[in-house]
Amino acid sequence: MRIILLGPPGCGKGTQAEIICKNFSIPHISTGDILRDNVKRGTEIGFKAKEYMDSGRLVPDEIIISMMKGRFSEKDCKNGFLLDGFPRTITQAEALDDLLKQMKISLDYIINIDVPDEDIINRISKRLSCSNCGEVYNLLYKKPKNEMTCDSCGLKLNQRDDDKEEVVKNRLDVYRKQTAPLIKYYKDKIKNVDGRKNISEVTKEILNLFNS
Ligand code: AP5
Repeated sequence: MRIILLGPPGCGKGTQAEIICKNFSIPHISTGDILRDNVKRGTEIGFKAKEYMDSGRLVPDEIIISMMKGRFSEKDCKNGFLLDGFPRTITQAEALDDLLKQMKISLDYIINIDVPDEDIINRISKRLSCSNCGEVYNLLYKKPKNEMTCDSCGLKLNQRDDDKEEVVKNRLDVYRKQTAPLIKYYKDKIKNVDGRKNISEVTKEILNLFNS
C-alpha cells in the first residue's frame, strides 16, 4: 500500500502515520524526521536545512528531491510506504510523479487531514517529543506517564525549535501558499478526513477509507 498523508503542520500526520505503518508493516517516511536527523548528526543537508526549518520556511525543493531519490527503491518499501510531509510543493509532487513512473508504481491513497488553525496552535504549543526515539506526546491529548520523560526510552522530552508560536504562524502561512495547492493537484484521488476528532476516531476514519 502506498499512501500520502497531507495536511497543515500539527494536524496529526505523524501520529496517524505511526499507527497506520505499524498496522500495515510499511515504512513511515517523514521528510521532517529525516531533516531533523540530519541536523542532529551535523550533515551537510542538516546544515543547509536548519535555518529554513527554524524560521518555518520550506527547505528548497532541490535538497528535498535529491534526498528522496532512491528512497522508494530501498528494500523496506517493497510492500509500500507512507509519505508524511512529502510532497509539499507542486514541484515536489511532479518530481514524485516522475520517480513513481520510472519505477512503474502508483499511489493508492492520498489522505488530507483537515484541522482549523486555532486547534493547530493549541496542539503544537502542547507537543513534546523525544529526540532519542522520536515518540510524540501532547500535554493535553497524549500525556507521558511521567512529566517530561519518554514512556518508551525514559529520556527527557523536548519542545521542537520550530514549535514556538511565531514560527508556527509562519509555518501555517507557508502551508497555505505552498502546500495547500496540492489539494487541487491531487483532486481526483484525494480523500478528506476530519482531524478535529480524537486520535483514535481519526485513525478509524482513515482505516474506513481503506475498506471502502
Ligand atoms: P515536519 O516535521 O513535516 O512538520 P509539519 O508538517 O509542520 O508537521 P508536524 O510534525 O508539526 O505535525 P504533524 O502533522 O505530524 O502532527 P503530530 O502528529 O506531530 O516539517 C518540519 C519542517 O521541516 C518544515 O517546516 C520544513 O522546514 C521542513 N520540511 C519537512 N518536509 C519538507 C519538504 N517536503 N519540503 C520542504 N521542507 C520540508 O501532532 C501534533 C500534536 O498534536 C502532537 O502533540 C500530537 O500528540 C497531537 N495530536 C495529534 N493528533 C491529535 C488529535 N486528533 N487530537 C488531539 N491532539 C492530536
